[in-house]
Amino acid sequence: MFLWGSLSFGADFNKDIRPLLEANCISCHGATKQASGVRLDSAAAFQQAGPAAVLDVVESGAMPPNGPKLDAANLKAWVSADAPWPAGVVLGTNSKKKDDLALAEEIAKRIQLSGKFEAYKKTIPGTTISYEMAAIPGGEFSMGTAGRKDEEPVRRVRVQPFWMMAHEVTWDEYRLFMFSKQAGEVLGADGAIDAISRPTRPYVEMSFGMGITSFPAISMTQHAANKYAEWLSAKTGEFYRLPTEAEWEYACKAGTSGEPANLAEVAWFGDNANGKYQKVASKKANPFGLFDMLGNVMEWTLDQYGPYPAAAGVVDSPWVQATKPYPHAVRGGSWNDPPEGCRCSARVPSDASWKQQDPQLPKSIWYLTDAQWLGFRLVRPVKVPSAAEMYKYWNNGVEREY
Ligand code: HEC
Repeated sequence: MFLWGSLSFGADFNKDIRPLLEANCISCHGATKQASGVRLDSAAAFQQAGPAAVLDVVESGAMPPNGPKLDAANLKAWVSADAPWPAGVVLGTNSKKKDDLALAEEIAKRIQLSGKFEAYKKTIPGTTISYEMAAIPGGEFSMGTAGRKDEEPVRRVRVQPFWMMAHEVTWDEYRLFMFSKQAGEVLGADGAIDAISRPTRPYVEMSFGMGITSFPAISMTQHAANKYAEWLSAKTGEFYRLPTEAEWEYACKAGTSGEPANLAEVAWFGDNANGKYQKVASKKANPFGLFDMLGNVMEWTLDQYGPYPAAAGVVDSPWVQATKPYPHAVRGGSWNDPPEGCRCSARVPSDASWKQQDPQLPKSIWYLTDAQWLGFRLVRPVKVPSAAEMYKYWNNGVEREY
């Protein structure tokens, strides 16, 4: 009877206690503020405040001041089980996730200067998951297509050297970002990682049954892709961001003047993909060693979508920064597209209709549940930018308006 009781009514720190304290107490009793000298954000501090005293103020409704009156049942069960607090865990509040310039500066400090400019493989620290980077030499190319409305005027564009992920970011990689536990992360161990905002739990299974292992991640907002880049930079000490439209098209063309002779050799698209995405890198790579630039899933770029401006001479490293949430430029076509959509110069504007239309569900800044053909890959420019520039790449500034 006793044993049964303690099992049934025991409360789990991570599931029950931590959310209660973080949502209701830590803003006044944590790192930034210590009302009445009381801290409740670590095991030692909690013991010092006194578990019984904490339970008392919650049960009586004295804390938080001015309500709400909290249900103290879980706290009571946990305190009577001697308040087991997992080693090293330090509580924070959501307001710590500021995505501000200070955070970019913190991450910038750990960014290494670029090493040898060649292809390499990277394992995400603390995990067994890896990805490959292709070295893309800088150069000039003709961006756009004459005679196509959205792709004119054709301009000469120069891009600087960068590495690019050889394949689209897979679920194996992206889920480490969605679920910090899978990445072996412990709150309190790395302040910068803790401060980066992360996707909320999705309402639906995000692969939509199309497969996880080695399949491309899909249906994320551009904001989510940007935050992934920030997170990966903090994890690896290498600076990552989304490619600009120009970089993306340059990498896709890979020194060729146009489109592949045989699309089916290099791309999963409407005619051969069986109505779903396919494992990354299962078709032939382009001359730069990049897989699935065309087809499989469309890919986010950094740029706001708009008409190309006319330009005399060579345009260096163009990037159209966003001033509104829609549209952003998306590239490469997908498993859902006819050959016409799977061209290196083809552009697609992102659209509000890509967001779950179900009025029951709150709109999320993380998921575009109706864009099951949209993913991304990242680049790593050889020239490491300043922290202020990193901040601009990682924060499009319009994510809250989605
Ligand atoms: C808005 C700020 C604020 C929040 C939120 C808050 N507290 Fe407090 N807390 C205070 C202040 C101010 C005091 C100082 C004493 C008082 O007003 O009673 C205090 C005092 C305490 C004390 C010491 C009580 C004593 O005997 O002096 C404890 C324990 C405590 N809080 C626990 C909590 C817990 C647990 C939560 C969350 C459920 C919480 N507090 C939320 C502001 C806050």
